[in-house]
Amino acid sequence: MNLILLGPPGAGKGTQSRLVEEKFGLMQLSTGDMLRAAKTSGSDMGKLVAKVMEKGDLVTDEIVIALIAEQLESHPDSKGFIFDGFPRTLAQADSLANLFEKKNQRLDKVIEMRVEDEALIRRVTGRFNCTVCGEVYHKDSKPSKVKNVCDNCRAVDSFIQRSDDNEESFRTRLVNYYRDTSPLIGYYHAKGLLNSIDGLLDINKTQQNILEILGA
Ligand code: AP5
Repeated sequence: MNLILLGPPGAGKGTQSRLVEEKFGLMQLSTGDMLRAAKTSGSDMGKLVAKVMEKGDLVTDEIVIALIAEQLESHPDSKGFIFDGFPRTLAQADSLANLFEKKNQRLDKVIEMRVEDEALIRRVTGRFNCTVCGEVYHKDSKPSKVKNVCDNCRAVDSFIQRSDDNEESFRTRLVNYYRDTSPLIGYYHAKGLLNSIDGLLDINKTQQNILEILGA
């Protein structure tokens, strides 16, 4: 099964991808995580994208499509993929369709997570994550059980806030979402693949609604 989680910054795509990944044995492909890993590695590509990401602008289609193509190529035996943060433009969506066609695979479902802007900003500015295992938290809706200890990997003092999780960068990301990414809602609706859910519900209820769409 191949699935896209579509939604604005802070909608909960990463949180839900991780939960669905565990339940279905699928592989999560987050272009945001891949780009952040490139940044941390100090590679030429990482240096190129660092400033763009900091500001909340989109990295070029060419770079992200190459990242996704490489992942699909290097995991031929995967049971399927959950795309988190990709595609973000019509060009990326067309490229994904071409990649699947070449492999005789298909996209099964697209789930749009709808969340109002004011809730998004609260989510993004309150988010922090574990630098060791990547687990994502929120100061109000998902704090760690023990202060400064990761629930998932038990690392101590490993929490950080993303450098683009500030109000200014968030506003740019939101504008980019409405301008470049929201047209994908119509694109996938026309292909009969779109399902929309209320992403304002709590994490567990949202997960249940996603599992229902996936027939679990
Ligand atoms: P990326 O990392 O993809 O960021 P994003 O799309 O802005 O999405 P977020 O990671 O901010 O949010 P999310 O929906 O995953 O929410 P989360 O689950 O963490 O991209 C970063 C940058 O990389 C981009 O700006 C761009 O520069 C570049 N980039 C990436 N992909 C690209 C592409 N394809 N093309 C071009 N450029 C690209 O949840 C948010 C918070 O809310 C967390 O704290 C969480 O605990 C909490 N939360 C989650 N669900 C709920 C809930 N139901 N109720 C209450 N709180 C919740």
